[in-house]
Amino acid sequence: MSFTFQLIGYPIKHSLSPWIHEQFLRKANLKGTYTINEIELHDSFEERIQQMRNENLDGFNVTVPYKEKIIPFLDDLDAYAKKIGAVNTVLNKDGRWTGFNTDATGYVRSLETKYPNLAKDRTKHILIIGSGGAARGIYCGLDMAGYQHIDIANRTTEKAKEIASLAGKATKTDIISLQEAELHLTKYDVVIQTTSVGMKPNTEESVMRLRTLKPGAIVSDIVYQPIKTAFLKQAEGAGASIHFGHTMLLYQALYAFEIWAGQQISINNMDEELQQILEGR
Ligand code: ATR
Repeated sequence: MSFTFQLIGYPIKHSLSPWIHEQFLRKANLKGTYTINEIELHDSFEERIQQMRNENLDGFNVTVPYKEKIIPFLDDLDAYAKKIGAVNTVLNKDGRWTGFNTDATGYVRSLETKYPNLAKDRTKHILIIGSGGAARGIYCGLDMAGYQHIDIANRTTEKAKEIASLAGKATKTDIISLQEAELHLTKYDVVIQTTSVGMKPNTEESVMRLRTLKPGAIVSDIVYQPIKTAFLKQAEGAGASIHFGHTMLLYQALYAFEIWAGQQISINNMDEELQQILEGR
């Protein structure tokens, strides 16, 4: 048997997902392909999805701008995709398409793999900076993993409120401004930067100053171009432990692969290899 996987989105010509999934296939000793299927904005999305149905793929990933648009074409959704309202992974099982969101679980797994002590105490105080699609997924992932204190800092409050409305019964969330967050950073055990601020070419930019952090704090940035953002450099300078954005990319792919292939594999040194590829770009 040979697996056929695809990625849909736009623009995706430079996506690292084919490289990641080819490594996974090799590690799992499975035959298969993972190809890019770019759907341009003027293309008929419905026709392209119908073509994919005819191809009988084993599964596919969905990235921007189609993570929400794909939902009406699916037969089922898993709990995360339903709650987040976005799908990044589809499994085809006997013609039934099920949508998953592995961004949320992938992020939490990447963080807890690097910092296993975190998972032992779900009462730690977490701050999410930003309120876009990535923040929404990470919020739901942490909430569903059982973390109880997750505050959100954003430039504007509207989208932050929408995210906070997804809180489970045990989760408490305060919405604060970026200025308030900057002043009260010592409250947080984990600070997660989810905006695009600091992404190449604006590598000198940082969404806020990180002068004083809680001793032992973990600071995470989902931006992975560059690997070590200005935000993470500041965090390191202030004595924090840091968590890189490219590991989220790796773990969301790992979880997608596990769903498709039905087996677990180990990432081993792929984290460093991916880092080298990104640094060479
Ligand atoms: P994604 O879906 O990839 O997470 P997005 O929807 O564009 O990206 O979300 C971007 C988030 O980053 C938003 O919360 C945005 O803040 P607003 O909700 O106030 O628009 C935040 N953001 C983007 N640029 C920013 C900047 N220069 N300073 C502060 N926040 C910024």
